[in-house]
Amino acid sequence: MIRESLPELSSQLLANPELVDTVAEKAARATTLLRNIARDYAPVVFANSLGAEDMVLTDLIWRQNINIGIFSLDTGRLPVETYQLIDEAEKHYGRRLEIYFPRHEAVEAYARAHGSHGFYDSVEARKACCHVRKVEPLQRALAGKGAWVTGLRAAQSATRDKLKVISQDAANNLVKASPLADWSEAEVWVYLRSNKVPYNRLHDRNYPSIGCAPCTRAIQPGEDVRAGRWWWETPETKECGLHLVDGRLQRIAKQGVET
Ligand code: ADX
Ligand code: SF4
Repeated sequence: MIRESLPELSSQLLANPELVDTVAEKAARATTLLRNIARDYAPVVFANSLGAEDMVLTDLIWRQNINIGIFSLDTGRLPVETYQLIDEAEKHYGRRLEIYFPRHEAVEAYARAHGSHGFYDSVEARKACCHVRKVEPLQRALAGKGAWVTGLRAAQSATRDKLKVISQDAANNLVKASPLADWSEAEVWVYLRSNKVPYNRLHDRNYPSIGCAPCTRAIQPGEDVRAGRWWWETPETKECGLHLVDGRLQRIAKQGVET
């Protein structure tokens, strides 16, 4: 997907009353969805990567006191700007994120087998690193939960284009909600700016999508929003395993949750 906006364009976006109204409506809908999920599937958690989308959800959940726990996976390789944002967000909301770390034995075994930058060598070695540093800690974070919330958007990539707001996550055996599934990047930025939400400073430096430091770079004008993630791979492989079953994002719609 071609990038629609940059954070610095958002003052122009804010001058568009139709867009501002759309964002207010979508935010109200997302809030209702979050409240309903929290009520129907407790305990519910939100996996917060500290990316722009996830700061929208953080703001909705924490400012409205919705009963959804918020956690982040600290892979140990995050950019310094992401750690700065964790600090800034915790101060801004007066709350603390729950942080999950990888198991040190697994990281040590990975480094012995592949080296500390083995993820550049092959897709398999990269996915193995993502498994140790993200997927296994995610499984611990989701254990015993009834549903989880993500900041995924359908427009982010080819692998996410059929994303549903609600799906059944067979890998983790629980309901998965993506309240921003139909949001555009411009809408995300209108929300962040109009609500003065803290965000990762790397977004100001052409990093629309941010993961681990060695696997994320800035994008060039006109490049895909996820072009800076695992940039040495082809678009079809660019998922870390947090959201995949059989190599694809899940698409099973679940009935009964009022969105
Ligand atoms: S990734 O699969 O390519 O890494 P991306 O960065 O687009 O994912 O984030 C998509 C969603 O995955 C986020 O909205 C969030 O719900 C979850 N996620 C990704 N990284 C993390 C993280 N480090 N901690 C918690 N959740 C994460
Ligand atoms: Fe490892 Fe890179 Fe995946 Fe982070 S994004 S877990 S450093 S391969």
